[in-house]
Amino acid sequence: MKLTENLYYVGVNDRTKGLFEGLWPLPEGISYNSYLLVDDHVALIDTVDAAFFDTFLSEIRRAIGHRPIDYLIINHMEPDHSGAINRICREYPDITLVGNAQTQRMIDGFYRTGGNRLTVNENDVLTLGKYRLRFHLIPMVHWPETMVTFDYERGILFSGDAFGCFGALNGGVIDKFIVSARYWDEMVRYYSNIVGKYGPQVQKALHKLKGLEIRMVCPAHGPVWTEEIPHVFTLYDRMSRYEADNGLVICYGSMYSNTARMAEVIARAASKAGVRDIVLHDVSQKHHSYILADVFRHRGLMVGAPTYNGDLFPEMEALIKKIVARGVRNRLFSFFGSFTWAGQSLRRIAALTEAARFEPVGSPIEMRQGRLEEVYDACQALGALMAARLKESET
Ligand SMILES: Cc1cc2nc3c(=O)[nH]c(=O)nc-3n(C[C@H](O)[C@H](O)[C@H](O)COP(=O)(O)O)c2cc1C
Ligand SMILES: [Fe+2]
Ligand SMILES: [Fe+2]
Repeated sequence: MKLTENLYYVGVNDRTKGLFEGLWPLPEGISYNSYLLVDDHVALIDTVDAAFFDTFLSEIRRAIGHRPIDYLIINHMEPDHSGAINRICREYPDITLVGNAQTQRMIDGFYRTGGNRLTVNENDVLTLGKYRLRFHLIPMVHWPETMVTFDYERGILFSGDAFGCFGALNGGVIDKFIVSARYWDEMVRYYSNIVGKYGPQVQKALHKLKGLEIRMVCPAHGPVWTEEIPHVFTLYDRMSRYEADNGLVICYGSMYSNTARMAEVIARAASKAGVRDIVLHDVSQKHHSYILADVFRHRGLMVGAPTYNGDLFPEMEALIKKIVARGVRNRLFSFFGSFTWAGQSLRRIAALTEAARFEPVGSPIEMRQGRLEEVYDACQALGALMAARLKESET
């Protein structure tokens, strides 16, 4: 599939994988994008998951027949993109593997392939003929070797995972030929799940890319961006600064509905006080992949869970660790819980979130033995207080 003059999309769709990285659900599938630049020299930019090699190779052959490929440019070594390196080297024994020093070391470790290598650094240029490619390192977005490749005369950025999203391609590849809005939720989920921990590094990368005149972004997953570049950059910029809308996400764990009822009372009070965008998640029912996306979207965050065997309800512990591990900040935060004989959940939530830079709202509420009437007013007040603080932060 031709994207523009001498540039072909040779990626594949994966609609069979259940969990990306063994963690994140893919109800809409995912694409592994690869691009072929055909000039005096031919360059392939990234590969695909090894399971799709045959399809991948036939896409390449459709574009260039049996013409050899001179360069394989490796923007990222995670195996969803690097997995086919060995087989590409077998198919094209004279190919040169292009990557930075970190990339080359990872190739040695993962693939033990010999072959020609070209080690590139920041601002190095590779001339293919009339097109020239420049390399920019964007370390820790989201691996240490991640880089982007820029066709600087045409303004085409091959961005690796950056600006990518979950969701297989549905026929169309370029944003102007598809309904791009279908991908925004999957972009937030992809970012929050995979890249979310590295906000400061994404900011550095965005700063580096800001000076470039980019007309087309070819990421490693999801559609190719042209008219949506401003929207995509704004999304990445906001998420990597941990900026959010003034909505509220309430996450609760609950075995016998006591904690859930507290969450409902809090949510109603917040709604009554004017918060329109409220979402409640049962941490045992909703996959944390989606909860994380909502945490990245909303400025208000409330969590509640019972005490379980002298400790915090385990699914809540797991969720909080995922949130804190992503360095989420700029959040208005409160928490609540319930117990029967010796409460521990609140203490544990406080300890787990201590290092996070959350702004506390109100005091934690603890309920004993389902005595909702004893904490009803406090729950209402907490919901209303959260609403007021969210409203304040609007101005
Ligand atoms: C398996 C299990 C372990 C529990 N462990 C404790 C505990 O260590 N300390 C405590 O005070 N309550 C404990 N409880 C009681 C619950 O924390 C309490 O009933 C709480 O209100 C349940 O909230 P829920 O209805 O939202 O699940 C335990 C309950 C269960 C089912
Ligand atoms: Fe990756
Ligand atoms: Fe990837």
